[in-house]
Amino acid sequence: MTYSRTASLDATVSFLEKLAANLLAAGTDLRANDQLRKRLLLAIQKLIPELETPAEACQRFLYNTLELPAARIAVDLNIFNLLKESPTPLSTEELAKLSGKNPDTRLLSRILRYLASLSFIREVDTGVWAASHLGNNLSGEGQSAGVANMVDNCAIAMVTLPDFLRCHGYKAPEDKSDTAFAQGNRVTPEEPTFFDWLKTRPENARNFNVFMTSHRTGTKTWLDRQEVIKEITDAFKKVTAGKEGGEEKGVSFVDIGGGIGHQCKAFKKRVPDLKGKIVLEDLEEVVANAELEEGIEKIGLDFLKGQPVKGAASYYFRSVLRNWSDQYARPILGYVRDAMDKDSLLLIDELVLPDRGAHRYETQLDLAMLAMLNAEARTEAHWKQLLAEVGFEVKDIVFYEEEAREAIIIAKKAAS
Ligand SMILES: C[S@@+](CC[C@H](N)C(=O)[O-])C[C@H]1O[C@@H](n2cnc3c(N)ncnc32)[C@H](O)[C@@H]1O
Repeated sequence: MTYSRTASLDATVSFLEKLAANLLAAGTDLRANDQLRKRLLLAIQKLIPELETPAEACQRFLYNTLELPAARIAVDLNIFNLLKESPTPLSTEELAKLSGKNPDTRLLSRILRYLASLSFIREVDTGVWAASHLGNNLSGEGQSAGVANMVDNCAIAMVTLPDFLRCHGYKAPEDKSDTAFAQGNRVTPEEPTFFDWLKTRPENARNFNVFMTSHRTGTKTWLDRQEVIKEITDAFKKVTAGKEGGEEKGVSFVDIGGGIGHQCKAFKKRVPDLKGKIVLEDLEEVVANAELEEGIEKIGLDFLKGQPVKGAASYYFRSVLRNWSDQYARPILGYVRDAMDKDSLLLIDELVLPDRGAHRYETQLDLAMLAMLNAEARTEAHWKQLLAEVGFEVKDIVFYEEEAREAIIIAKKAAS
């Protein structure tokens, strides 16, 4: 299509201007139809870099580095929640008082005006502020923890990545300790990896774990896929058949690197009548903070050293193997393979990248893993190759979230 016909272009722009002028109503209408909302979002995202001049592109893009820290300051001062919960807009002075941190009001007004210029909040009068859709989106506990996690835990690694790659001659790094994260944070030999570093930083660890628990809230989950649940319940019957204690003593689901147990709880809720135990595994100091219900047990361990639960129906990894290059993923998976029964299932809940046309959600996660851990998000071919190397046969790959290509890879021990 060519847009040389000025009249139709003019009408399109006028229509978009009208939408933008009445954002509150337009936003509510557009959000009511998810398909249309996504189409419009994609179109706008594609148009912006096409329309900008070099100066405009630089203005938007070069200062990106400030957006996240500004949101972090807003989280610290509880700005998003205060505005969301207030029935009326609030002045700078009121926000300063309600924040409980006694900020200088002139300093605060500079931060607020920056936030308003980015739509994090709305400037409804001179020095008077109201909530915005974007700020409301960031106001929940999980989202606030996500902002804190990104700034306090990840940002230094990300800005160090160019120098790290330069110093390493652009060779693909695999070592878990020699990372952009380690270089940027000048870590000590006792805390070489991000996960070691978290051990002595409870607030950073809390933000990471809260974010991990909540970051996919509201998106589709593998637990909605009946065929996967059936695979697990069938496997449970097979692995417990003829064994001492039968189904009562069996293990249905082991969540390896499961954080504080949200997927164990979700699994139990999904199949409440399935007998046997559910097991949460993670580092000792992480499972110490897991509050679990009856029927879910926890084991503190290092999965680089072994897998203590033998013959379970399913061994599940969510967003774990992306943290480890193949050099470490092989032994982690190898211990699981050795613990598995011939009918046990390996379940890998991960992004599976396409060979071309990867979405921004996937590519940014991939480079974040590089900066933090010398690790990566894998393509389908890469997953299959890695799993074959460790002695697994992929039975199925079930995509349950098309947009971000979240999938559950179902594999079994290859027949020897
Ligand atoms: C990215 S998080 C994923 C957490 C959880 N599976 C989820 O999807 O929310 C990776 C998890 O691996 C755990 N982990 C890292 N190194 C570990 C190790 N050596 N042994 C056991 N768990 C480890 C971390 O503590 C963290 O909970």
